[in-house]
Amino acid sequence: MKKVFSLIATAALTASMLVGCSSGSTATATAATSTAAAAASTAATTATNSDLADKKVGVCIYQFSDNFMTLFRNELKSYLVSQGFTESNIEIVDGANDQATQTNQIQNFITEGVDVMIVNPVNSSSAATITDMVTEAGIPLVYINREPDADEESRWKTDNMSVCYVGADAKQSGTFQGEIIADLGLDAIDMNKNGKIDYVMIEGDPENIDAQYRTEYSVKALTDAGFEVNCLDDQVGNWQQEQAATLVANSLTQYGNDVEVVFCNNDAMALGALQSITSAGRTVGKDIYLVGVDALSDALEDVIAGTMTGTVFNDHIAQSHSAADAAINFVEGKTNDYYIGCDYVKVTKDNAQSVLDSVK
Ligand code: BGC
Repeated sequence: MKKVFSLIATAALTASMLVGCSSGSTATATAATSTAAAAASTAATTATNSDLADKKVGVCIYQFSDNFMTLFRNELKSYLVSQGFTESNIEIVDGANDQATQTNQIQNFITEGVDVMIVNPVNSSSAATITDMVTEAGIPLVYINREPDADEESRWKTDNMSVCYVGADAKQSGTFQGEIIADLGLDAIDMNKNGKIDYVMIEGDPENIDAQYRTEYSVKALTDAGFEVNCLDDQVGNWQQEQAATLVANSLTQYGNDVEVVFCNNDAMALGALQSITSAGRTVGKDIYLVGVDALSDALEDVIAGTMTGTVFNDHIAQSHSAADAAINFVEGKTNDYYIGCDYVKVTKDNAQSVLDSVK
């Protein structure tokens, strides 16, 4: 587990990088608002709490095969144990990307009488149903990674529910992707000299707010910076490497050298895109640019090597720790803010090694 060391190491990246999650204005849970505070508060809570040893936590993950959620769930489990939960009392289940399967798993956790649930919904649109099931059983609930919509979140407050969301603002990750490209300057990017940035977009699951906002805000950052853009192709790769590899191979066959930038909503898909870029005889940094999100170790290695232009660190460490802290607060009868947000970090060749060191 990386916990304290990782946060401190990440804190050392640069002064401008805020890492950690913070509650909103009426902070009652994780009030870490700076790297230093995040590191200090994590250090302060490292002592295990014996009262948690007999508490049960049910964790629902939308799909175990997702690379990012695998990092997230492994870190979540280690951190829960470090905080005092017994390993056998932490049950983590695979929703297999099927809402009906996940809903059954939630029902089983209710029957088992878990003390708290942490849920990464298969479909965010099922959140209202999930919230009703879990809260009617008197069990507090922490949503992670896939944010329910504004109507759903606002009723947690109105109805005074023990429910909260821990995650990052997808708009920020999209903006960072666009800025990484914008910072290269039009001369470097516009290789076909049509005065525009010609790009291909590979989207995650379309129901997911992360996919929607990353798609929108990466392009918005370019137009905000004054560039003209031209979308050559926009396809759904469902967060998966193989699907993205096929889609990008097709785009490169169809549009050839006109493809100047490939935006992928996550790194798994960027790694797939890179396979096809290489197979097509193209070279990232020379005749094409490629960005992802997550900062998976493989992607960071590529950024360091120059075979990926950049990525955005989706801080699974801060997010999983904050989700666990929120769950512990609920178990201890305390409240949480309804929204606990974490910062993304822009990653280019300049800081990729530091980020890699911090997640290792
Ligand atoms: C990550 C993706 C992941 C998705 C799962 C996103 O925040 O960037 O890699 O597949 O969450 O919901």
